Amino acid sequence: MSSLLSQQSTNFLNKARDYWTSERVQKLKAGHKYHVLPTNAPLLLRALGLLNKDASMSADSTRKFIQVNHLLNQFRPYLEELNSRHTQVRILDAGCGSSFLTFLMAWAYQEIWQHPSVLIGVDSNETLISKNKQTAAEMGVTDRLTFFASSIAETNWPKIMDALSIAPESEDSKKIRPHAVVALHACDTATDDAIALGIKLKADFIAVAPCCQAELAKKWKEFADLGVVNPLKPAYHNPHLRREIAAHLTDLARVLILRGHGYEVTTTEFTMSHATPKNTLILATRRGNYHKASQQEYHDLAAWMGGSEISLASKVPFSEV
Ligand SMILES: C[S@@+](CC[C@H](N)C(=O)[O-])C[C@H]1O[C@@H](n2cnc3c(N)ncnc32)[C@H](O)[C@@H]1O
Repeated sequence: MSSLLSQQSTNFLNKARDYWTSERVQKLKAGHKYHVLPTNAPLLLRALGLLNKDASMSADSTRKFIQVNHLLNQFRPYLEELNSRHTQVRILDAGCGSSFLTFLMAWAYQEIWQHPSVLIGVDSNETLISKNKQTAAEMGVTDRLTFFASSIAETNWPKIMDALSIAPESEDSKKIRPHAVVALHACDTATDDAIALGIKLKADFIAVAPCCQAELAKKWKEFADLGVVNPLKPAYHNPHLRREIAAHLTDLARVLILRGHGYEVTTTEFTMSHATPKNTLILATRRGNYHKASQQEYHDLAAWMGGSEISLASKVPFSEV
């Protein structure tokens, strides 16, 4: 932890140390093994809003605390693989918002792995970006975590590398790629912007939890109005099913496009909660060998959907693989 913590952060560390007796920690753990705890991550948990001012944790926050640990476990094998391959791991959180994942990763890089890392959060909301910078200072992680206000599509990675003086003398900043691009619940097609950015920059690992995909559903509404006939026609005329089916098929199309660009892709549940409808996590690892078969599968899917392409396809055409 940085020695340049504010008096406020230092006071909070003291409160957390006094509050979290071993009995309270055992009760919180309830027999589980958690990496993130109020004893080793009080400033992180405060930054995520999970510890109160007096360092206690409410029942509602306890559920989120379990999710945070679950999230770290989901990302851990992928990040550890990057750590084993790169002396300094560079990660971009696209549409970072309040940045809970980036703060979590910054904490893990500092406290668990003690591995050199450059974490960058990008969001179009300037107010959130300023707040995140302040939170990073309060957590003492500004040496590895920084934020830029930008849209995802306009994120200029080489310029960010130059601004941070990352490029070693021997290397051209244009060649310094992010090793991971993550985007959690970036709105609608912002997820596609993040995937496209990751593919174009040849990121080793891309992870997205998509949110409120409206692109295909909008097209299908037009198909309904035009009286287009195809096997999905019954869904075109049913707003609820149209949204649900379109969202899942959008994710399937994203998986095929990622595979078509040489990524090995798995999908899983994002959170343990079944209460959230936005619960898909797409995890893609670059293997470099592009898959003609997946490209064909994407084209077949688009044709089966009445020629509905998703915009990601035009952002990263297969012809550029
Ligand atoms: C629902 S929030 C999720 C934030 C964060 N990733 C999380 O999981 O808590 C979506 C965020 O994406 C940002 N966003 C949406 N579209 C964007 C775009 N095209 N470029 C940059 N940021 C975008 C919004 O400003 C917002 O902060």
